[in-house]
Amino acid sequence: MEMEQRSISVNTISPLFEQSFGHEPQVIAAAPGRVNLIGEHTDYNNGFVLPMALEKINVVALAPSPTGKHRWIGSPGDVVVELDTEAAAVPGEPFWSNYVRGVICMLQRRGVTVPPVDMLVDSNVPRGGGLSSSAAFEVSVCTALATFCGVDISPTERAVIGRETEHEFVHVPCGIMDQFISANGKKDHALMLDCRDLSYRYIPMVDPQVSVLVIDSAVKHSLADGGYAARRKNCEDACSILGVSSLREATLPMLEAHKAQLGDLCYRRARHVVAENLRVAAFAAALEKKDWEAAGIAMRGSHASLRDDFEVSCAEVDTLVNLSYTIPSAESVYGARMTGGGFGGCIVALVKSEDVEKVASEMLEGYREALGIETSYLVTRPGAGARILFQAH
Ligand code: GLA
Repeated sequence: MEMEQRSISVNTISPLFEQSFGHEPQVIAAAPGRVNLIGEHTDYNNGFVLPMALEKINVVALAPSPTGKHRWIGSPGDVVVELDTEAAAVPGEPFWSNYVRGVICMLQRRGVTVPPVDMLVDSNVPRGGGLSSSAAFEVSVCTALATFCGVDISPTERAVIGRETEHEFVHVPCGIMDQFISANGKKDHALMLDCRDLSYRYIPMVDPQVSVLVIDSAVKHSLADGGYAARRKNCEDACSILGVSSLREATLPMLEAHKAQLGDLCYRRARHVVAENLRVAAFAAALEKKDWEAAGIAMRGSHASLRDDFEVSCAEVDTLVNLSYTIPSAESVYGARMTGGGFGGCIVALVKSEDVEKVASEMLEGYREALGIETSYLVTRPGAGARILFQAH
C-alpha cells in the first residue's frame, strides 16, 4: 500500500477553514516533511547531513480571530482549542498545541507580537514515522505567523525557532536537520548542510533512472523516550575524553589513540559519528557524478554503523534493510538504510526507477512474511521547502 495520497492545497483547506470559523483565511503556508538520505546523528555533533524535502506537507491556514482569543484546530474536524494571548505562549494542553505555543513564544522573544488568530492545520506527512511531521508543523506555523505579522524571518531562523520549540516545549533534544531542510528544501534537489556553521549547498537529484523509495517499518518511534538523549550524552562524554569541543573535530586515528580511555561504548558512538561524516562526503560526491553504486555503498555503510556502533536501529528496521539484499529484485536496489532518529520509523532506498514498484511490493511482501506486519511505502522526488500558498491583499 502506498502512504497517504490525499493532497492538501488552498482549495482543500480554505473551505474547511470557512466552515470552522465563518470567515476566510488570510494566510496559508506549507512546509514539508523530510527524508534524510545520509548523515544520521551527526547534526548535534556539528557534522554533515544530506536530507531532501518530501512532497508531503503540513499546511496552516490562519486569519485574525474576531473573538480576541486564539482559536486553533489541529486537524480538520478536530475540536477547537481556545486560548487567551498569554496562555498561548506557554506550554500546555493538548499536546499538539505545544508546537504552536512554542513558535509563538520564540517569535515573542524576537520581539514579534502575535495577535489572536484563528488557525486550522492539515497534514499529509505520516506521523511518528520518522519523516519529520513535527518539523513540518513548526516550520509551517512559523512561516504562516511571520507572514501574517508582517515580519521577515529567514528560512534558517525559522528552522532555529522550530528547534527551540522542540527543546523547550516538546522536550525532544533534537538537532537542526529536520527543521532546516523543511525550511530550506528545494524541488529536485537534495541539500548538504554543515551543521557547524549552517552553510549548505544544493545537489541536483533529477536522474529519471533512479528513484527514492521510503518504506515504513510501522514501528512508531519517539525521540522523547530517552534513547536519543542518551546518544547525545555518549557523544558529549566522548568529546570530554578526547578534549575536543565537538566530534566534528575528532578523527579516526584520534579515536584509536584514545580507545582505552573512551571505553567500548563511547568509542563506538564516536566512531559512528566520525565515519558518518566521511560517508556524507562520499555520498555527496557520488550524487554529483550520478554514481549510484557508490552512493548505495555509503548508505549501506551508514546503516551497519547505526545498527552496530550507534545502536539506534531495531529488529523490524533491520529486517527491511536485510530484505533489500535478498528480494528477487535486489539487484535493482543500489542501497538502503534506516532514516531519521531511529528506534523504528522508515528506511530509505535508492532504486532503479524501472523496477521501483516491483521492489516496493517485494519488500512489503517479504516484511509481511517475516514479521506479519502490513506496511506502506512512498516513491518520492525532492519537494520544495516552506512557502506561502496564499495571502489575502
Ligand atoms: C531526529 C532529529 C534530528 C537528527 C536525527 C538523527 O530526526 O530530529 O535532529 O538528530 O534524528 O540524524
